[in-house]
Amino acid sequence: MASLITRKLDEAVKARLRVRAAQRGHSLEEEARRILTEAVADEADTASGVTLPEDVAGESTGTSIAPTLKARRVLLVIGGGIAAYKSLDLIRRLKERGAAVRVVMTEAAQQFVTPLAAGALAGQRPFTDLFSHADEFDIGHIRLARETDLIVIAPATADLMAKVAHGLAPDLAGAVLLATDKPVLMAPAMNPHMWAHAATRRNIETLRGDGVAFVGPNSGEMAERGETGRGRMAEPLEIVAAVEALLAPLRPLPLQGRRVLITSGPTHEPIDPVRYIANRSSGKQGHAIAAAAAAAGAEVTLVSGPVTVADPPGVNVVKVESAREMLAAVQSALPADVAVFAAAVADWGVEPQQQKIKKEKGGAPPQFALRENPDILSTIAHMTRGRPRLVVGFAAETNDVIANAKAKLARKGCDWIVANDVSHEGGVMGGDRNTVHLITAAGVDSWPTQSKQGVAAHLVARIASALEAKR
Ligand code: C5P
Repeated sequence: MASLITRKLDEAVKARLRVRAAQRGHSLEEEARRILTEAVADEADTASGVTLPEDVAGESTGTSIAPTLKARRVLLVIGGGIAAYKSLDLIRRLKERGAAVRVVMTEAAQQFVTPLAAGALAGQRPFTDLFSHADEFDIGHIRLARETDLIVIAPATADLMAKVAHGLAPDLAGAVLLATDKPVLMAPAMNPHMWAHAATRRNIETLRGDGVAFVGPNSGEMAERGETGRGRMAEPLEIVAAVEALLAPLRPLPLQGRRVLITSGPTHEPIDPVRYIANRSSGKQGHAIAAAAAAAGAEVTLVSGPVTVADPPGVNVVKVESAREMLAAVQSALPADVAVFAAAVADWGVEPQQQKIKKEKGGAPPQFALRENPDILSTIAHMTRGRPRLVVGFAAETNDVIANAKAKLARKGCDWIVANDVSHEGGVMGGDRNTVHLITAAGVDSWPTQSKQGVAAHLVARIASALEAKR
């Protein structure tokens, strides 16, 4: 009956129903059936004056789930098997524990579940095609393989396992698995005869030897009528437990329980509704610090100017435009244990016009009186009450890097300055690498040129040990 109903629905309603079904891991028809059942039950309850308690009426909503995977990145490769429908639930379970989930789907997987459903649950479009221009320019298989903490293959079909065991890369999933240097967890799902086959046994041995971890398969009834045995994919919560075990920190994370506030990116100072003053900051360094602090267990607020880099996982991102908005956002994000001011804040702005300034024929160009913006770093570093215990500023210098940065440290009242040598490598702004000196009361540490992620990891490690020493 449900399929008859959904066929007659108009396209807009059907599209919304499809997303709703995907979010709950149901088919379109199943979702329609549940909505009808609930509506009829509601009507009956209202008529009888009965209100069911929450735990009887449906799924309990009150349980809070511990964010055991906060700021962890999982790349889920969905293979082509009937168990793929359980992978939709797996996405939801991983996300509700705080993980950022990217999805790669094989062509066969798309025969069982749609990219629309996987994307609706993951909160971002799944990746499906090795030769997609858009995907390769946007992320690319190498970045997919590396920008993750763990790769989970669920369901891992006999075919996919064979390909990985032999290093074949005929599609995006294969290329990602060959290119990765991250741990891999497989949740096999296949017919018991395929699982028991000598070829599969050999592949499992090879994969184990390559360091691949396994969860399941379980024994039980197969999707094919009358087939039982070992080959059912592990349940989503079993896979989650295996993910947690693989990603669990061996000791408490160094910034566990600390609040870290970070500014990043440029500011845009409005001139009129369509024009603004900007600078070339990309936000890559500040965002990398936010990601590293979150991965170190901190509760991170990132106040970001307009950037195109993605929000780091597990971070509370507050988006602002102007220096004044940035100061207000920083002040309302306090208190914090540590504040890192990596943003390239515009030193000056203008009094913005409410309407677009028109170019008059033959008229003189408009004149702007620049007004000084608040110095956010200096304002926070000079707070007499509620000042973060560690205030870190950045300084971009082209000459006399260390002398200038030391003077800035004193002037701004911060504890540390990260001095960027912007004369290096044809410019730091927008680039992926950085050469910095860390200036503290104890002296100057010059770090080798490295990726912005490398700088972020070093800085976060220094912050963690400074806080530990202050304790
Ligand atoms: O004075 P200068 O712009 O070189 O100082 C750089 C440092 O000061 C950076 O940490 C930057 O985030 C911060 N800053 C600020 N507010 C401003 C200007 C700079 O927080 N208006």
